[in-house]
Amino acid sequence: MSKSVRHFLDLNDIPAETLKAILAHAHELKKQKFNPPQIFHGLSLAMVFDKRSTRTRMSFEVAMKQLGGHTVVMNMEEMQIGGAESIEDTANVVSRFVDGVMVRMSNHDTLCEFASHTSIPVINGLTDHSHPCQIMADLMTIEEKLGSVEGKKIAWFGDSNNVAYTFAQAAPIWGFEFHIACPEDLKPEKKTHPSLDLNHVKWKGAAEEAADGAHVIVTDTWVSMGQEKEKKGKNIDKFMPYQVNSDLMAKAKDGAIFMHCMPVHQNEEVTPEVLDSPACVIYDEAENRLHAQKAILAWCLEEAGVSVQDSFDFGGTQDE
Ligand code: CP
Repeated sequence: MSKSVRHFLDLNDIPAETLKAILAHAHELKKQKFNPPQIFHGLSLAMVFDKRSTRTRMSFEVAMKQLGGHTVVMNMEEMQIGGAESIEDTANVVSRFVDGVMVRMSNHDTLCEFASHTSIPVINGLTDHSHPCQIMADLMTIEEKLGSVEGKKIAWFGDSNNVAYTFAQAAPIWGFEFHIACPEDLKPEKKTHPSLDLNHVKWKGAAEEAADGAHVIVTDTWVSMGQEKEKKGKNIDKFMPYQVNSDLMAKAKDGAIFMHCMPVHQNEEVTPEVLDSPACVIYDEAENRLHAQKAILAWCLEEAGVSVQDSFDFGGTQDE
């Protein structure tokens, strides 16, 4: 029986043990960064963007090339799919040229529809729903800095967006507490987040309460990509009580780290003194996109011929 295609669309789709094996592989690949194994030799990845990107584009491109593969980068506006060509035809054709495809687009359902028509792995490079590649890099960073993720208190401040949602998905998988401090109208609820296990998400209206004793303080922009027009007249003042500043950091545990997936908006979601403090690990977090991407690609492309060390038998995958 042929195995199913290994898409990386959402953390909830992939067995916990597989996600943990991918993360362990990312740490190993980081150790090998100056002698990268050529496991993607002869393989190609397409990258399709309908939104801006710095970290996602660079990390996937460098990941493929350092491990011996190739990339093709396409802006969705310049593709035929931006005209009359159907999602199905595009998916079928892309499947004939490359071994995998990373897509950044707004609509998660469209991404899933695209994936349903491909015969190659599709990786979610960010949708309005989730950003799983980012969270793999973030968890890797927490493991590096704090030893493990399990049992930690991770506190999120500001907008309850796609990145926060993906952290919330990760909480029961890795066994950490996820506290989200945001305005009440953005509080995650069953009707807005039907697939989320809200037992693992603690909403706090008061930022200080969420920060209290936290091991990790994390925030993101208050105006997500694609929402600039919609939020232009938006009252961003309502997010000010959730700004990460020195007073908020002082509530966290000694040795707590500050994370942000970037790009940063200084004096909005975070103040310069936090960014300049030893707690700030955002550049390590950004670099870890590269190592996490390599491991995600290795898992997705295993069926295309990638072989990794025996210690990274990805085991119990969605194929079975
Ligand atoms: N964090 C992140 O996804 O960065 P880019 O938008 O630059 O890819």
